[in-house]
Amino acid sequence: MLLCLFVAKLASMRLKVVACFAIAVALFVAPVTAQPRASQSVDRRVDELLSRMTIEEKVGQLNQLFFLKQFMKPEMLEPDIRSGKVGSLLFVTDPAIINRFQKVAVENSRLKIPLLFGFDVIHGFHTIFPVPLAMASSWDPALVEQAQSVAASEARAVGIRWTFAPMLDIARDPRWGRIVEGAGEDPYLGSRMAAAQVRGFQGEDPSSPGRVLACMKHFAGYGAGSGGRDYDSAFIADAELFNVYLPPFKAAVDAGVGSAMSSYMDLNDVPGTGNAFLLRDVLRKTWGFKGFVVSDANAVGNLVTHGFAEDKSDAAYRALTAGVDLEMSFPGDPIAGAYASSLTKLVQEGRVTKNQIDEAVRRILEAKFRLGLFENPYVDESRVATIHNDPEHRRLARVAAQRSTVLLRNEGSLLPLVKGDPKISSVAVIGPLADSKRDIRGSWVFVDDVNRAVTVFEGVRAKVGSSVKVEYAPGVDLARAYPSIFEIINGRRPAAWSEAQKRAEFEKAVSLARSSDVIILVLGEHEEMSGEAASQSTIDLPGQQLELLKAVSTLGKPVVLVLINGRPLEISWAAANVPAILEAWHPGSEGGNAVADILYGDATPGGKLPVTWPRSTGQIPIFYAHNTTQEPETKKNFTSRYWDIPTSPLYPFGHGLSYTTFSFSNLRVSKPEMKVGESAEVLVDVENTGRRAGDEVAQLYIHQRYGSASRPVRELKGFERITLAPGQKKTVRFTVGKAELTYWSGALRDWVQEPAVFDLWVGADATAPLTTTLRVVPASSVLP
Ligand code: BGC
Repeated sequence: MLLCLFVAKLASMRLKVVACFAIAVALFVAPVTAQPRASQSVDRRVDELLSRMTIEEKVGQLNQLFFLKQFMKPEMLEPDIRSGKVGSLLFVTDPAIINRFQKVAVENSRLKIPLLFGFDVIHGFHTIFPVPLAMASSWDPALVEQAQSVAASEARAVGIRWTFAPMLDIARDPRWGRIVEGAGEDPYLGSRMAAAQVRGFQGEDPSSPGRVLACMKHFAGYGAGSGGRDYDSAFIADAELFNVYLPPFKAAVDAGVGSAMSSYMDLNDVPGTGNAFLLRDVLRKTWGFKGFVVSDANAVGNLVTHGFAEDKSDAAYRALTAGVDLEMSFPGDPIAGAYASSLTKLVQEGRVTKNQIDEAVRRILEAKFRLGLFENPYVDESRVATIHNDPEHRRLARVAAQRSTVLLRNEGSLLPLVKGDPKISSVAVIGPLADSKRDIRGSWVFVDDVNRAVTVFEGVRAKVGSSVKVEYAPGVDLARAYPSIFEIINGRRPAAWSEAQKRAEFEKAVSLARSSDVIILVLGEHEEMSGEAASQSTIDLPGQQLELLKAVSTLGKPVVLVLINGRPLEISWAAANVPAILEAWHPGSEGGNAVADILYGDATPGGKLPVTWPRSTGQIPIFYAHNTTQEPETKKNFTSRYWDIPTSPLYPFGHGLSYTTFSFSNLRVSKPEMKVGESAEVLVDVENTGRRAGDEVAQLYIHQRYGSASRPVRELKGFERITLAPGQKKTVRFTVGKAELTYWSGALRDWVQEPAVFDLWVGADATAPLTTTLRVVPASSVLP
């Protein structure tokens, strides 16, 4: 406007009008006229901008701050945005506040560089999908991609342009609370899920409508913390790092992920946020990653806490030189803002070069240009409700929850229950999670309307109609021993019941069970019992849930156990005594409806475990792809592992039942022998041998019998979820070639594909018996 007045003074009346109009149009169409035009290449635009930035403005671009509406006022951050001291904000989810902050950045700051708004969009935003561990249980990458594209569109609708997802940490210890945020224990499944999520969030281009930039995290090794304790040091030998922990990250890079988050913990004595080996050598040099790296929250300052950096300034130096471009900070915390407080001085002192700063700033600006933020910095607040309330989103959430449930046990085909069964006139839905709208959704859920979530009690009631009496009793209460930071953010601290209340509620639940024809028991964990800072010393069913389960199960009534949880739990008693167990995880907004669909046969379970399910805490860590000992596992009375419990898990990796049955047969390889570098096809026939349509996941496992290093007893190398009508048979094909047979040899310290004999199995879980072999010979000769 000031510009308009200035022009008016200089020009004739006519020219004045034209000039003002032209300027107004220019301001409207390209609000940031101070910027180079969009048609220029991103590189040039970045160069031009960089050449005009002061060192303080550059450092500002490397500074990301939290904004929590509950605790802060926008006025607190605006002066820093105006003076160019902030490049990005996280946790702003209100579109009006996003526009308000953005206006300060693009209209009132000297260089008018837009802010980048990020948020943890982990499994939905307004519509909540099943937690990531559940989504991995679907073994359906296409579904996962679709779900994350819906999540992206809902987040983008409020102006969020960047999600801190997917979390790609392999987790082999269910005591670790964050196992719920990933795809479980397996690098192959994890890689497929990683790529699917990146595609879902970013689409072909993260700047296109409804898409956001993805951020793979936490690079790397966070899932291997000692004892399953969150943030604890991880010690991972190189072979395990390359073969197990890094592949999902590599898959995300190959899928074009735009950013990465460095991890908190020490990896082999070097914290992830100061780890040049990971961030420079592996990520950039070896993998050619072109995006930018953000630190985990306050993780730069944490380098001091780790006993790695001398002080905050040293921490800034270490993180920047290791390859962290953007520092995520929680204002007010004394360790926060290491970049903001130190980088300018470090440049003046000559410890950090201008080029090092420019390299990091360049990556941030590149992302902002590529996201189209300079052209379209604002969000259209009027469209939020329409996008959020698209009925397709809820439909997909229901399908996702159906496809993520895993039927662990179904003795005597108790499930599915039959709608309209004359023998069932009353159903008891019992348990602390049976009617909890919060807990059906899982962790990392902050902005949806909790009332939109459907509980199992509500789902069952809607399913069976008014002719069947459906009643609910919680039975026991659930509380964490120590409150969670997220309970504080969410304003929730479940109060423990008094002793008298405990006795009364327990009795009420048992008597309800006694007077009902069928009991659906919904047990597990509340939403904050898994997730960040939610590790457990045991995986026992929390609280008095086991007592409730036992009391209800001994009444002689049919009992179905539905689990709502974020990690495998100790359910050995249930596995021996409760006829039907359905693992629903935290299934999201439509969870209750989806569980009811499964319980009553309107959907058939087809999910499979993405983790090995331990018998007890003492078996942890337990995972299927372990190396063998000196004794073959197949040996009768195999005893070398434990003498008090069987070596085997309660349920193997890949396990999951259906309401129908399947058979695998005719496993064959297109050629019995091939050269290193060549590929063969592996084929198997899968037949639905039951009387209902259903899904099976055909899983291919391999084992290299000998080589320069010992290899795991089995490794997943392919899978396909297929739907078969009763009696239908289908041939599933897999390729086995260089990608599947190459591994990182700890002996040779390199990636190798070796001539050897390989065992192949295809079947319904990691114990599949159907097997054949493939001989791989050296590329240059006929026989090894
Ligand atoms: C978590 C990250 C998350 C970040 C921002 C951290 O504490 O480790 O996974 O993205 O907070 O919420």
